[in-house]
Amino acid sequence: MAISTDTAAASPAPKPNPNAPTEETVLWVKHYTDRLFAFRLTRPQSFRFRSGEFVMIGLPQDNGKPILRAYSMASPFWDEELEFFSIKVPDGPLTSRLQKIEPGDKVLLGKKPTGTLVLDALLPGKRLYMFSTGTGIAPFASLIRDPETYERFDEIVLTHTCREVAELEYGKELVAKLPEDPLIADMVGSDVVRQKLRHYTTVTREPYPRTDRITTLIDNGKLFEDLGVPPLDPETDRVMICGSMAMLKDTKERALKAGLVEGSNASPAQFVVEKAFAD
Ligand code: A2P
Repeated sequence: MAISTDTAAASPAPKPNPNAPTEETVLWVKHYTDRLFAFRLTRPQSFRFRSGEFVMIGLPQDNGKPILRAYSMASPFWDEELEFFSIKVPDGPLTSRLQKIEPGDKVLLGKKPTGTLVLDALLPGKRLYMFSTGTGIAPFASLIRDPETYERFDEIVLTHTCREVAELEYGKELVAKLPEDPLIADMVGSDVVRQKLRHYTTVTREPYPRTDRITTLIDNGKLFEDLGVPPLDPETDRVMICGSMAMLKDTKERALKAGLVEGSNASPAQFVVEKAFAD
């Protein structure tokens, strides 16, 4: 048998890294304010995730090392495309460049989605609160488009607090369009969505019908009064929290004070917390 000495002498080809991010194509970009924008990417067939999870996404750099940050998928698990909702930080290492993407550009997508803002980390309950500030609405944008959310809960309260009125637009648009989404209409029913999903918005730095932080509205009971429901109760209520570090800490304190126990994938309980901020 002849053995090719050429092959034997050649230096071994570098092994491809099975965990290396894939290059995805930007399909759509929408700028909401000078601080917020949303975009959609192609989704590889092999990319599986649970609604509410996050993944690393980013851009290549001249030094050959990509810059990656954790981003929640804002689209649900069944969507053919991937949606993200991002802050723009003028001197942020990633978002200063990411905010300039246009359809056709490439964005790096990690291969390992993960996270605790998932339905499986919560015990069954009656009412699900999703407390969000700023881009912290992203995982909930995914979950309110997941039929299972409506199967598991009788009532879903999505709260969104932003500094400015225009920053609420992404969530408002989404909630308004949701009952007409063909898959949601088919799997859940437009009327069921309208009846179960409540969108509670507040703005802290501009005039608006409600101008308090969500923590204040929990403390003074106004949130529950406005919704016409009893205060947080571990028997009936489940809570998911997503926002800045300070917001997570302060809102988690309210959940604990109400007697709710923190859950995880390994040990489902009554509330879950996750940070979903770039830069
Ligand atoms: P405020 O305007 O009073 O700071 P940010 O863009 O800084 O993440 O803030 C988004 C929203 O979250 C703002 O309305 C902000 O209110 C609110 N917020 C900031 N910190 C907290 C906190 N610790 N608890 C509750 N809400 C907060």
